[in-house]
Amino acid sequence: MPPKKIAIVTCSTRSPRLNPTITRYVHDLLTHDPALPTQQPSSSQNKASSPNETTTDTDTEIDIDPDPNSRHITFTILDLAAQSLPLYDESVIPASLPASDPTPHYTRPHTRAWSATVRAYDAFIFVTPQYNWSIPASLKNALDYLFHEWAGKPAGMVSYGSRGGGKATDHLRAVLTGLRMRVVGTAPALVIKYTGLPVGGLSEEEERVDLDGRDVEGWRLAGLDGMMRNLGMELVCELDKE
Ligand SMILES: Cc1cc2nc3c(=O)[nH]c(=O)nc-3n(C[C@H](O)[C@H](O)[C@H](O)COP(=O)(O)O)c2cc1C
Repeated sequence: MPPKKIAIVTCSTRSPRLNPTITRYVHDLLTHDPALPTQQPSSSQNKASSPNETTTDTDTEIDIDPDPNSRHITFTILDLAAQSLPLYDESVIPASLPASDPTPHYTRPHTRAWSATVRAYDAFIFVTPQYNWSIPASLKNALDYLFHEWAGKPAGMVSYGSRGGGKATDHLRAVLTGLRMRVVGTAPALVIKYTGLPVGGLSEEEERVDLDGRDVEGWRLAGLDGMMRNLGMELVCELDKE
């Protein structure tokens, strides 16, 4: 059986931004935590299946079950900043397109590329900051571009912000439900108290903000690492139903 692919989506597109650091934290926790019913990561590298899919260096395939006939799960970081989507400019209504193959019906090349990228995944974890009590426009924009590519797939959410970002995931849950995604219940909200961002732009290589250990310890003590493992398990259970 081919591996089920889970995208961990980086949703903020500004620079500098904290999102890549938080996404990597989620990725590392899910791929390495022994509480998940996994073997140690095999570190196999998966090639991108679309030209717009990036950061394959963080792809990690993990064995959920040593039985070769059972399924495998891969986690891949998918960065919205790398998609370079303009503010929504598609003339067709995504939900009105043929559900089985909407991709060729879009009028814009960037929509067709984004459609192909999203279709390559079986489930998603959206790692999002809270902007003014909601999600960033970059995430809403990326979601609005498509419909059938999201519909029916399991989705999880991790938020972060100075107060954890729970209001962002409240909004996001409604949006994902409107897109007919199967949103799992656990939505960890990471409070950022001490980790800071440098002022001004950062090059791509420099976009590696170190998490303040006090934040990381606070999340652990608050049980958020456990919540993220629960989220991973909930997605695996949803994929098992297929
Ligand atoms: C436009 C804007 C609005 C924000 N609104 C909130 C908010 O409502 N609640 C909150 O806890 N933090 C809020 N913040 C703080 C962000 O959560 C924090 O800056 C975080 O680092 C943003 O993620 P990013 O750096 O990956 O873009 C806001 C930040 C920005 C830039």
